[in-house]
This record gives sequence, structure tokens and C-alpha cells, in this order.
Amino acid sequence: MGKNQPEEEWNEEEEELDNSDNNDLMGDDFEKNIDNLVKKQIDSKRVKKIDQTKKRATVDSVFDERMYLQVSKILKSGILSRIEGIISAGKEANVYLAYGQNNKEYAVKIYKIDTNTSKWMRNYIIGDPRFKRIPHNVSKIIYLWASKEFKNLKRAYKVGLNVPEPLFIKNNILIMDYIGFGSIPAPKLKDIKFPKDPINLLSEVLYFIKNLYQKAALVHGDLSEFNILYHNQKPVIIDISQAVTIHHPKAEILLVRDIKNIFNYFETIGVEVPNREDFYYEVINLE
Ligand SMILES: Nc1ncnc2c1ncn2[C@@H]1O[C@H](COP(=O)(O)OP(=O)(O)O)[C@@H](O)[C@H]1O
Ligand SMILES: [Mg+2]
Repeated sequence: MGKNQPEEEWNEEEEELDNSDNNDLMGDDFEKNIDNLVKKQIDSKRVKKIDQTKKRATVDSVFDERMYLQVSKILKSGILSRIEGIISAGKEANVYLAYGQNNKEYAVKIYKIDTNTSKWMRNYIIGDPRFKRIPHNVSKIIYLWASKEFKNLKRAYKVGLNVPEPLFIKNNILIMDYIGFGSIPAPKLKDIKFPKDPINLLSEVLYFIKNLYQKAALVHGDLSEFNILYHNQKPVIIDISQAVTIHHPKAEILLVRDIKNIFNYFETIGVEVPNREDFYYEVINLE
């Protein structure tokens, strides 16, 4: 597949989980009950902090007013039944472990509405043919960013790449498959001292880079051992919000950086890596 490949049309309709059944439940009593439930669940805006290293499970104050409201809303909508705790509190987003009605685990990523963040985000959105109009409003930029992560995940997932399946997007809230065992989220690759079979691991990450480019027509743009989870001895690639289409003016420079990060990481753990340049040309299909 070369760069002349036509852009895939996005089917916006399939992006939102069908939530219509929940509306029938939205009577007064239901509202009251669920209000109590939500209060109990996230009382005093505190929630358990979940640690990948299993060493800590402390209660932490992690909801600011706005996050609290957003979390209340998704609990009320019935998509999720409870928030188990926070996995990660980052600069741009918090990630929570939650349970659905079916008692299945989900990861919930909530982007912070922040003026500074929205400024650099614009650079990645501008030039992406999927986004025709760029809003000025800060919240709207962040919503667009969250939907970009959703779309990128979907695109990668559809072509069979190892990413969490995205399930729901609404404003700045993204719900996706949870990667982990029980309440212990999968560790990041950077936290694994000696991954088993690192040669195979490298080849799986290279497969990801190549097929993300060739089949999903995307470049991750922030690929490193920080954004790869190690689950069942396999890499699961996350944090794909900044990924750009291969037509984006920054696509090539981002691809070079991704390759550099990954090759450097595997070299530091003692794995022999192929020639970087050869691999680059292999990815962009100019062997
Ligand atoms: N689907 C997921 N399942 C389990 N843990 C996740 C999932 N998505 C993210 N995480 C955890 O949350 C952290 C932050 O998520 P990430 O998408 O990398 O956001 P950012 O780095 O922008 O804060 C990850 O390093 C990982 O530990
Ligand atoms: Mg990250």
C-alpha cells in the first residue's frame, strides 16, 4: 500500500455504543438510587490507587470537580457499574479501572480540559485529513483529541493489531478494553527488567509499526517502552491519540522517531536489532 491509497471513510455512527436502552431506566427513582450509588462509589472524590507493581493500593484524592462530574455521568448512564480505582494520573489524562454491567473490566481514559494541552494538540490535528474543521474552543479541541485516540485505536484494532479494543467515546471520555489480570493492570515494558523472549517481542513491535503504517495508514508518533504494555508475554500498544495518518506532513519524522525509540530500547536490553534505515524503507515500502 502506498501513499496514493484513498482515505478510509469514517463511519461516525458506529463510534458510540448504543446507549438507547438505558434511557428507559432514567425515571425519578432510578435517578435517586443511582445518585446514592454514585455518591457511595466516589465519596469525597477519593478512589483507590492501583499500582502495576502490586505494592500499593492506597486511597487517593484524584477527582477534581470536573472529573467527578464526568465520572458521575458515565456511572449514571449505566455504561459502567463501578469505578474500581485509578491506574494512572497523567498530565493530559487519567486512566481508571472500571467495571461494566456485565462485571467485565474496562479502562476509562478521561482527558483533562486544559488550555495549554489544547494548544499543542492543535498541531497534530491540523494536517490530519480526517478532521476538516478545527474548533477554537478548548473543550472541543480536547474532545476531538479523545475521538482521535478512539478512531486510531479502532483503525489499528480493525486490522488485527495488538491494541485495546475501543468501545465508547463521549466528549473527553474514552472507554476501552482493560489490559491486565484482575485488578492488576499490565505493566509497561519499561518496568519489565527481563522480558521473556525479547527477540520475539522485538519482532512483534516491528510488525506493529509496519502494519500500522501499511494496513492502518497510521504512524503512532509516541512509540516507546512507556506506551507498550507487557501482557501475556506479548506487547499491547497504547496511547495512540497523537498518531497521524501517513499523509500528515509530520508522519515521516514521527516514524523515524518511533523506530529510533524502539531500536534504542531493545539495544539497551541486549537484543540485536536490524539496520534502522533498512527497516524504515521496509515500512514505507520502498525496499
Ligand atoms: N487499556 C488499558 N489497560 C490497562 N492499563 C492502561 C490502559 N490504557 C492505559 N493504561 C495505563 O494508564 C497509563 C497511561 O495511559 P496512556 O494512554 O499512556 O496515557 P498518558 O501517557 O497520556 O497519560 C498507561 O501507562 C497504563 O499504565
Ligand atoms: Mg502514555
